[in-house]
Amino acid sequence: MQDVTTTAFMRVIGRRGAPDWFVTEYFRVHESSTPEKHIVDSVVNHGTGRPVFAQLIGEDTPHMLRTVRELLRLPVAGIDLNMGCPAPKVYRKNVGGGLLRDPAKVDELVGALRQAIPGLFTVKMRIGFDGTQRFDELLAVLARHQVDLVTVHGRTVKGLYWSEVDYSAIAHAVRSLPCPVIANGDVASAAKASRLLEETGARGMMMGRHAIRNPWIFAQWRDLQLGRAPFRPVLADVRDYVQDLADHCCDQAMTSEQRAGRLKKFLNFIGLGVDADGAFLHEMRRCSNMEELLACCDRRLLQGGRGAEPYADEPYRGLVARPTRETQQGCEL
Ligand SMILES: Cc1cc2nc3c(=O)[nH]c(=O)nc-3n(C[C@H](O)[C@H](O)[C@H](O)COP(=O)(O)O)c2cc1C
Repeated sequence: MQDVTTTAFMRVIGRRGAPDWFVTEYFRVHESSTPEKHIVDSVVNHGTGRPVFAQLIGEDTPHMLRTVRELLRLPVAGIDLNMGCPAPKVYRKNVGGGLLRDPAKVDELVGALRQAIPGLFTVKMRIGFDGTQRFDELLAVLARHQVDLVTVHGRTVKGLYWSEVDYSAIAHAVRSLPCPVIANGDVASAAKASRLLEETGARGMMMGRHAIRNPWIFAQWRDLQLGRAPFRPVLADVRDYVQDLADHCCDQAMTSEQRAGRLKKFLNFIGLGVDADGAFLHEMRRCSNMEELLACCDRRLLQGGRGAEPYADEPYRGLVARPTRETQQGCEL
């Protein structure tokens, strides 16, 4: 995830039970791009012991191939093509989710990438641009080029991050493709992941925002699958997680105000499981520097016996994370 899946974040998550593999923030590819250093660092130095796929976003085939050659020199598990980013600034350039409008372009790009990638080549896609009318055509292209794995976010590009997820469309992709399919979109808890595995027939689940909110989700699902009682975090565990984010994911060279802004991006999601009335979210959004913010976390997550209270498994109903720069507009390409 853009601006989230940094080297430091992967380590913080890794300490709480890493996913089976990670996917980097996307590498932006255009004629003068070179793989961004901080994303390369997340491939090389994450130290979680898990495989990492490098994700590309772009549409210029020669430059995509050049970038693939550069990335394949790194210890990547494979290359993932982004066909899902819904930010208008991105899709208007016919990259990310914009590619879904043009199956002929997808055919050309995916075919060329397949030829250039001897190992694992995966695709992350949505179910369409503004509807599912081209979904079958797109799935047929991916099948024809023998993509190794497809992750399907069960929303259209126009559905952004908030429309209802169409799990039946994911089940349709599972039936249509010869390769494994990973389901994505609002997989909010380990119990829901198990339910969706059954319902969609997918081979696995990808968690995005729900891993920011609940970094134990991967370990919990592993426990559930092995018939063990899943780890149940309490608010004191959440306070430890917040401290880890403050210490490692907020650049210490920034001002206290800037670091607070950065930490709030994570708290925006974490707060959805703290209290049903949203008091924590309300209070933390009003803090203006890091000292105030951590004091607010102490008050809401530790004091008055709160530390022993359970952290909700799924977001409380009615609470919403405020759209961030990435979910609302996306990054400039
Ligand atoms: C802040 C943020 C950044 C994201 N960046 C990427 C990205 O770089 N590549 C990608 O494939 N998806 C990206 N996504 C989308 C997620 O991978 C995921 O598909 C989406 O959030 C739905 O899953 P969820 O309900 O578990 O969050 C991003 C999502 C968020 C919230």
